[in-house]
Amino acid sequence: MKINLKRGSSEISKGEMFILLTEEETKKIRSSPKHPHQKEFASRITNGQFSGEEEQRATLHLRDLRLHTFGLGKEKELSKETLRKTASLIADYCLCLRIPDINILLNIPKISPKDSAEAILDGILLGSYRFDKYKEKDEKIVKLKSVTFHTTSKEKNIEESLRNSEITCNAANYVRDLQTENADVATPLYLEKHAREIAKKYRLKIKVLDEKELKKIGAGLILAVAKGSRYPPRMIILEYNGNPKSKDKTAIVGKGITFDSGGLNIKPTGHMETMKEDMSGSAVCLGTIKAAAELKLKSNLIAVLSSAENAIGSASYKPGDVVTSLSGKTVEIGNTDAEGRLVLADALTYIEKNLKPARIIDIATLTGAVIIALGDYTAGMCGTDKETMKKLFRSGESTYERVWELPLHKEYISEVKSDIADMNNINYSRKAGAIMGAAFLSKFVENTPWVHIDIAGTSWLDNGPRYYYQKGATGYGVRLLIDFLKNN
Ligand code: BES
Ligand code: ZN
Ligand code: ZN
Repeated sequence: MKINLKRGSSEISKGEMFILLTEEETKKIRSSPKHPHQKEFASRITNGQFSGEEEQRATLHLRDLRLHTFGLGKEKELSKETLRKTASLIADYCLCLRIPDINILLNIPKISPKDSAEAILDGILLGSYRFDKYKEKDEKIVKLKSVTFHTTSKEKNIEESLRNSEITCNAANYVRDLQTENADVATPLYLEKHAREIAKKYRLKIKVLDEKELKKIGAGLILAVAKGSRYPPRMIILEYNGNPKSKDKTAIVGKGITFDSGGLNIKPTGHMETMKEDMSGSAVCLGTIKAAAELKLKSNLIAVLSSAENAIGSASYKPGDVVTSLSGKTVEIGNTDAEGRLVLADALTYIEKNLKPARIIDIATLTGAVIIALGDYTAGMCGTDKETMKKLFRSGESTYERVWELPLHKEYISEVKSDIADMNNINYSRKAGAIMGAAFLSKFVENTPWVHIDIAGTSWLDNGPRYYYQKGATGYGVRLLIDFLKNN
């Protein structure tokens, strides 16, 4: 999609023009219309048809021009999220009516043109995403071709925010493609292939540990999870150095279970159907480093994808097994369905020992329990790095990829124990499931400030569409992490 910015006059005489109006602005236009278009609007569209309420829409036909007004609601409730949502309604409308080229007037009260441009483009790009790879040709959607923003504002950075939005949302949509792809296509090797392509394109350092190397270094946990699968596991490490002068670097690490059957503790029907998305954390790490490199962010970032398939067969790892991790600690397998924490544990050890980042953020579809706690609106967050959690919270509020801290008191950590090994991967009670996942992980980070983000609820919508999300993959995490990296 082509994205343009036209400065100066905002008048056009042909095509499709979209105007976003608050209730207050709509009232003003009705009581004292200034431009000819406003007079036509006031005389032809009644208050009942359009008063500026959220989700309202009206169209005025003016010779070769169609003016579409979309309601923003009350000014005092207006936020960037209102703009994203409203823009996604515009995207839906255009896809539905096969309108390929659109113009948007950038003149939003209270929010600067730079911020409103970014939020509106977020809504258009995320909102026009559809996964139609497996649809028949004539059922494929007709994509939007261009969006042109019109503004009379002299604010300098509007171009930059449009670029920001374009790169970040395209990366989020790339993540959605990876999440949605069949599990027998999107295997650990497929993630490796994608990582290599990204490394080549953006000149990133890449290192891939295959099963032989994982065996050599003793990464027993990821190998155990992968045992039952025909696809070998991979630990993929990408590095982007946007600020070579600085020693500070952030490591992000993602759970990359390309299908989670539960293993021998098999998942029941109703819980397995979406498990191709259990690699969302890895996909988010890939999308984030891609966007960071494309945006040329001035920060140093390491992205680690810890990827395996949790399959069932006579070769699968078994409940009751004791496995030695990369850290040397032994883990009793209480449940083969708690596999995410296992592949992440070895990755955390590897990162801390070999890469020495200033902080580690892991992102994972780790527990069903976080869905019970927070639903699909907010991700769970736990960890030892208060400073990073504060910043992630703020980035979450700004991008609306929100995170909420759950406590990680030492009492929870003390429950991670086993009679026959150093620890168990579950605690045989259903209490505090999301925190117990984090408590297990905490045992594999010795000194590095660390944050864990559980996206089991937010990575995938069972019920959709919801504004700029369709039913299914959301790409949740890319916009959050990019905003964090920009402000860190
Ligand atoms: N991949 C699942 C968590 C999940 C559930 C992600 C629903 C997305 C949607 C994870 O591996 C899992 O199965 N966790 C178990 C842990 C339990 C056995 C301690 C769970 O949450 O039930
Ligand atoms: Zn599982
Ligand atoms: Zn899982």
